[in-house]
Amino acid sequence: MHVHKYERAWLAFGMVMLAVFLATIGFAAFADNINPPSGLQSIDPTKVAQTPPFDKPGLRKLSDGSYEAYYVAHVFSFDPATLTVPVGSRVTFYVTSTDVVHGFFIPGTDVNMMAVPGWVNTQSRTFDRAGEYLLICHEYCGIDHQDMFAKIEVR
Ligand code: CUA
Repeated sequence: MHVHKYERAWLAFGMVMLAVFLATIGFAAFADNINPPSGLQSIDPTKVAQTPPFDKPGLRKLSDGSYEAYYVAHVFSFDPATLTVPVGSRVTFYVTSTDVVHGFFIPGTDVNMMAVPGWVNTQSRTFDRAGEYLLICHEYCGIDHQDMFAKIEVR
């Protein structure tokens, strides 16, 4: 079968690019340890209330001055409902659900996760601006989904 030389060159280019992309992804995954951010930690959804630190949801201050915030999502609210952190705080959110899939979204920020029963999802953010931030559920979870929210005060 005759293949035109331009076509052969184009095919070779495509193969080389595939190899380059695979190598890039492999390098990022293994050398730089860049992996999907979620689903790395599991929890028994029926025992969240007895599983530390989710037995006492809320804020923990770490020795380096940053915070960890543990959230439990359930129909139709978040625990804790309000949280207060100082301006400039680095907060790492940990969120799980005790019933169905919920959303965990702070509009105006890049904090955007799902709260999935059986799993702990996590994301960090530095709050540089003072104000009251809304935390909303943005996954439809039932009849009162639109009223599922919490607040984070930064001051
Ligand atoms: Cu929870 Cu929508």
